[in-house]
Amino acid sequence: MNRDREKRESELIKLISAEKLPKHVAIIMDGNGRWARKQGLPRIAGHREGMNTLKEIITCANELGINVVTLYAFSTENWKRPSWEVEFLMRLPEEYLKTELQPLIEKNVVIRVMGDLEQLPAVTKRAIKNALQATKDNTGMILNFALNYGGRSEILNAVKKIAERVQEGALKPEEISEDLFTRYLYTGDLPDPDLLIRPSGELRISNFLLWQLAYTELWFTTTLWPDFKKEHFLKAILDYQERERRFGGINKI
Ligand code: IPE
Ligand code: IPE
Ligand code: MG
Repeated sequence: MNRDREKRESELIKLISAEKLPKHVAIIMDGNGRWARKQGLPRIAGHREGMNTLKEIITCANELGINVVTLYAFSTENWKRPSWEVEFLMRLPEEYLKTELQPLIEKNVVIRVMGDLEQLPAVTKRAIKNALQATKDNTGMILNFALNYGGRSEILNAVKKIAERVQEGALKPEEISEDLFTRYLYTGDLPDPDLLIRPSGELRISNFLLWQLAYTELWFTTTLWPDFKKEHFLKAILDYQERERRFGGINKI
């Protein structure tokens, strides 16, 4: 079965056009709980399996030459979950980085994290700080984790910072342009995502990158994140390459 999959993957790779690669791919890693339930396992087993998917997809994105991958790992709303699940999720970045940091350093990957990091447990913060420090001078793919991230909260933070600058007299209200506003978001210096992938069958954004997704191509699948493989990722890229992006204009008359 694995050999079949490898064959399908290499067929798909041949179809991908290197010139039309999305520069920035955002992914809502969803469906871990349902995957576990289907296997008769506790929800946390789904999160652990989801980590294997994460590794596979990051490797694939890096091999393809994608510049930025943003992954939704924990939302500002996920605190509503039972404490045992939140605690488990909070330990995952540390667990992930324990084995993955070194290979990522070797692949010249830059790790970034966006969200309200203050609220995270000290060990998680420490592991993240170490990873940011260890990869900050790398020049390859940007691997951007959204952790305790909420799109609305990100926008409000930007508004507050801009309001302060106006109050100080450093900025005039008429100088607040879309470009300026964009620079106050966590993703300040990153291009907007070209492609958003959401597994698990949910057809919603769940407070992810509300500003940045304005013209992003959306790709949904009912496959659950732990079952999501390289071939799904390649399929999403291929579908993206077939899309006609108009940004409100017209391409052909
Ligand atoms: C995604 O899987 C992981 C996080 C949100 C942290 P879920 O845990 O949401 O899985 P489902 O949606 O319950 O299946
Ligand atoms: C979105 O998934 C958040 C992450 C994947 C981190 P959720 O499972 O929290 O989203 P909803 O609740 O189904 O909208
Ligand atoms: Mg979910």
